[in-house]
Amino acid sequence: MQREYDHKSDPDILSVDGVREHLDTKLIGKKIIVLESIDSTNSYLKKAGFSGEESGTVVIAREQTSGKGRLGRKWKSNKDDSVIFSVILRPQLSLCEISAITLLSGLAVCVAVRDLCNIDCRIKWPNDIIVNNKKLSGMLTEMSTEPDGTVFTVTGIGINASQTAFESDIAHKATSLFMLTGKNIDKNRFLATILGYMEKYLTDNDCRLTEETVNEYTHLCATIGREVKFTRDNREVCGKAISVDRIGQLEVLMSDGRTEKVNSGEVTVQGIY
Ligand code: BTN
Repeated sequence: MQREYDHKSDPDILSVDGVREHLDTKLIGKKIIVLESIDSTNSYLKKAGFSGEESGTVVIAREQTSGKGRLGRKWKSNKDDSVIFSVILRPQLSLCEISAITLLSGLAVCVAVRDLCNIDCRIKWPNDIIVNNKKLSGMLTEMSTEPDGTVFTVTGIGINASQTAFESDIAHKATSLFMLTGKNIDKNRFLATILGYMEKYLTDNDCRLTEETVNEYTHLCATIGREVKFTRDNREVCGKAISVDRIGQLEVLMSDGRTEKVNSGEVTVQGIY
C-alpha cells in the first residue's frame, strides 16, 4: 500500500497543499494525490481507473522506481529532481481521436514552460518538449477500456527540473529547467500552471483538437518544415513535415508530391536528437 504524502510549504517539494495554493481549475486537479515513491504514476492511475477513479484526478510522485517511456522505453529520474505526474481523463472520443490528448498535453506543457520560465521551448511531434534540440519533457498517454466499454486515458508527464547534469549516455540529448535558467523553480506553482493549461486546452472541447489549437500547436512545433524519416511498409522513407491534421497526425510531403500521414511510432527529425 502506497503512503500518500503531504509536505507543507517547501516550493522544491511537490505537495497537495503546495499545488492547490496556485491552482484555479474545475476538473483537472479536483483530486490530487502525492506519493513519496511509486513504480509508475501511469500504472498507479490506470489501476485506480479500473476502480472508478474520476476524470481529472492527478497523481504526483516524488520518485518513480520503474517509470515508463514511449515505445517500451524506461523513464529514469532521481527523487525530487523532476516534476512527475499523471492525469486520468474520461473523454467521449473515438479511438482515432485519442492522440489529440497527447498533442494537447504537449501544447499545455510547452506553453506553461514558456510562460513561467521564459524558455524558448518547442514541441517535437507528437509531444516531446525540446530546447536547443535537447529533451526537457516527455509524455506517455495510455488508453484503457473497462468491461462495460467505457474508455479512459492516463497521460503521464515527466519534466526534468533540478538536474545539474545527466549520465553520459543521455547528456547530449537531455536538459533540465535548472540547466537552462540557473534557477530552481517553485515546483508547486509550475505544476499548477501546467494543470491550468491542461484544463484550458483539454476540457474546452472534450479533448478534441480545434482549428485554433492545431494552429497554436503548429506554431510551436519544431518538426514542421523539417525533413523527417519514418517507417512505412517495413521500409524507412523520408519527406518534409508540412502540417498536423485535426486528429493529430503528422502530414509529410514525399519527394514524388504525395502526402503521407504518420500517426504513431518513431519519427526521426533531421537536426533534432
Ligand atoms: C517518453 O518521452 O518516452 C515518455 C516519458 C513519460 C514519463 C512520464 S513520468 C510520469 C508518467 N509515469 C510514467 O511511468 N511515465 C510517465
